Amino acid sequence: MILAAGVGTRMRSALPKVLHRVAGRTLVEAVLDAAEGVSPSRVVVVVGAGRERIAATLEGRDVRFAIQEPPLGTGDAVARARGQIGGGRGPVVVLAGDTPLLCRETLARLVELQRGKNLDLAFLTFRPPEPGDFGRVVRDGRGRPSGIVEARNASARQKRIAEVNAGVYCFSADALARALAKIKRNPASGEYYLTDAVAILAAGRGKIEAIEAEDWREAWGVNTRRDLAAAEQMEHRRGVERALDAGVTVLDPATVRIGPRVALAPDVVLHPFVSLEGRTTLAEGCEILSFTRLVDTSVAAGAVVGPHCETDGAKIGARARVGPFSRLRPGSELEEDVRIGNFVETKNTIVRKGAKAQHLAYLGDADVGAGSNIGAGVITCNYDGQKKYRTTIGEGAFVGTDTQLVAPVTIGKGAYVGAGTTVTQDVPDGALALSRVPQVNKLGWAARRKAKKSG
Ligand code: UD1
Ligand code: CA
Repeated sequence: MILAAGVGTRMRSALPKVLHRVAGRTLVEAVLDAAEGVSPSRVVVVVGAGRERIAATLEGRDVRFAIQEPPLGTGDAVARARGQIGGGRGPVVVLAGDTPLLCRETLARLVELQRGKNLDLAFLTFRPPEPGDFGRVVRDGRGRPSGIVEARNASARQKRIAEVNAGVYCFSADALARALAKIKRNPASGEYYLTDAVAILAAGRGKIEAIEAEDWREAWGVNTRRDLAAAEQMEHRRGVERALDAGVTVLDPATVRIGPRVALAPDVVLHPFVSLEGRTTLAEGCEILSFTRLVDTSVAAGAVVGPHCETDGAKIGARARVGPFSRLRPGSELEEDVRIGNFVETKNTIVRKGAKAQHLAYLGDADVGAGSNIGAGVITCNYDGQKKYRTTIGEGAFVGTDTQLVAPVTIGKGAYVGAGTTVTQDVPDGALALSRVPQVNKLGWAARRKAKKSG
């Protein structure tokens, strides 16, 4: 169960809280990604205000929704979700939709603990530098958890407890049912607190254990914009640490951004102000130069990208050289040793082995043959206002500068296209295509003009 029905008042936002983003991913998607790591047989997301937008964000994901309206607290939210989880006997994991830094490994550890010892409840705790508004974990004389006290209800002494509740629980199905039946409305706030389950189960001699997160940052919950900014910082820092541990050189850790789903190999070098997002993968020894943003892009070994490049949904082959100022749009695939230079844009295009487009070109819906040379200012005219058409350029072709290739069109293997040509018909293998108006030189013209003017 992922609880996402809270109003999120403290964010001061028109957007539901769980749709705010950390490292480019919405809070609820981050939590869902962690949940999927423990292979749940079913995921229920509890939604309330803004549920249409949350459902739209999660479209295509394997989840069910339970509606909680009005939001009467985390205990009530779980009660609403129970109808959707069916009669399964397996453990029930409850997660808050606002803890985007949670790792699947930690969740797996919690589920294993509950299963292995057949506990009524296993839950996650952490020790942030400041316990702030988090619920304090109260333990009895033998160190067993006996309750969670919300900060606003805690005594001065309880407030000093450093161990706090992460809002991540693994209940046995039975224990959850027993606890829910007994949770009472909090007289002060009018809400049902899921956290009361700890005291309820403890009082009934239930078996409860709490484990502490190895890295406190992963339990960080987002309630305010300050919390959101802190989460972004933590995710950023974690990404850099992960890269360094993987054998990556990060020249300026303060300015490099590495998303949580980015995969990195040893001997990658990241220059200042590089941003790696989505499912980007960088293979051994590749180098990303400054002010370059890679989204869902794979870069093979030894390639160099940047500075000032933007790529999205692209594949960059081994030893390729991209940039400066190149833009690779979705469906761009560069094979080995390709060179894409300044102000070159590619989209849905394969550039085969060793081909070059070094300056000022647009290659859309094209297949560019191995070893071919695309001159400055070459444009594929791939769109007639209604449909897109493909351009095929054969192996070893030479396309001269300032050429328009009006698709659909094919340039043969080893063919030449003279500078300034507008190609509207296929060019056979090995041919030269020219469509220029022949040049005329008028000798002495300038002097005659001058004489005319002064006369
Ligand atoms: C909660 C815990 C607190 C813990 C903290 C960890 C309770 C009572 N307190 O406090 O002990 O330290 O999380 O981050 O559980 N939600 C609903 N329906 C509701 C209320 C909340 O779905 O009626 C959802 C929210 O959208 C949110 C999550 O539950 O994603 C947690 O609620 P929130 O109000 O943020 O609880 P905290 O005050 O942070
Ligand atoms: Ca919270």
